[in-house]
Amino acid sequence: MLDLNDYGIEMWDAAKIADFRRTLLNWYDREKRDLPWRRSKNPYHIWVSEIMLQQTQVVTVIPYYERFLDWFPTIEDLAKAPEEKLLKAWEGLGYYSRVRNMQAAAQQVMTEFSGQFPQTHEGISSLKGIGPYTAGAISSIAFNLPEPAVDGNVMRVMARLFEVNYDVGDPKNRKIFQAIMEVLIDPERPGDFNQALMDLGTDIESAKNPRPEESPVRSFCAAYLHGTYDKYPIKEPKKKPRPLQIQAFVIRNERGEILLEKNTKERLLGGFWSFPIMETNFVAQQLDLFEKEDAVLETLSQKQVFEEDYKLKPQWTDRQFATVKHTFSHQKWTVEILEGLVKKAELTSSHQLAWVEVSDLANYPLATPQKKMMAAYFETK
Ligand code: ADE
Repeated sequence: MLDLNDYGIEMWDAAKIADFRRTLLNWYDREKRDLPWRRSKNPYHIWVSEIMLQQTQVVTVIPYYERFLDWFPTIEDLAKAPEEKLLKAWEGLGYYSRVRNMQAAAQQVMTEFSGQFPQTHEGISSLKGIGPYTAGAISSIAFNLPEPAVDGNVMRVMARLFEVNYDVGDPKNRKIFQAIMEVLIDPERPGDFNQALMDLGTDIESAKNPRPEESPVRSFCAAYLHGTYDKYPIKEPKKKPRPLQIQAFVIRNERGEILLEKNTKERLLGGFWSFPIMETNFVAQQLDLFEKEDAVLETLSQKQVFEEDYKLKPQWTDRQFATVKHTFSHQKWTVEILEGLVKKAELTSSHQLAWVEVSDLANYPLATPQKKMMAAYFETK
């Protein structure tokens, strides 16, 4: 096992560790938040909550959690769910690979574990989409196994407790926090211990507005006691999301229906429906194919590339729409909306396209950026 001394961390003696556990758990018993998944020991319920909570706040998650279990009450239901319903259940939460992986893992439970959720840390870790954090959370909360659940909250609290001088944003440093937690975790109540740190980390010891003097474990906290609280956790600046200029094409036919495209699996937001969209650079890439034929270079516009690619010839309107902005973790989109009207409505391109009545739009899974485009489009009368 990793030696914490090598990282400049001095672990406490057994008495202090016991005192820390007691202090933290007493506080949790008094102050713990009443959350729907805390009323359950069912590993499936815990799993759903932990996956949802990975990138989303508790208040947002609660209604999604309840609806998800209402729609898919058992692992078997999840394993068999149609893709559209699955995406609909996750619509607005983002990071959709989470729910796809959950379905793959549910199918794994059905085939590899005879429909029984695995009860060991190793078995749980073998499921698709379950990383060390989620495996630790489910193991400790549902099965009372002494496994740490190290996420950003726990790393922040540990960094302050022990003045850890290693970047919490660097995945290779995770093992340091894991090692601290393996020593600290309460062997009798590991699930409560982990969740106490989650509560502490999201509120009193939050990243943005911590209130260290209110922390139940301030007398253990080296950074608090040494006046270095503001220095921890150490966090190096992250790479910024790449800016992308995007064109979205709102195409309507004579019946007023709107053209939607289903994203291919390989694309960002695969499986979701969208207005046809194109990166502005895509035009430049296409033009490269023409190998510097200047005449073509000058005349091919974004709209013409669309016409070629989608085998449609819309009448372009000159209506102006609000610019839509959306930031993913790795990309920052600025979307310009263009509107076109077509007479000929047959769809012959290789894209997966559909004409959709405005009143029917809500039945198609649309991700947040597409919803924003929809709003910008319909706001302009
Ligand atoms: N964040 C992640 N898991 C959580 C849990 N079980 N309770 C509260 N917040 C959480």
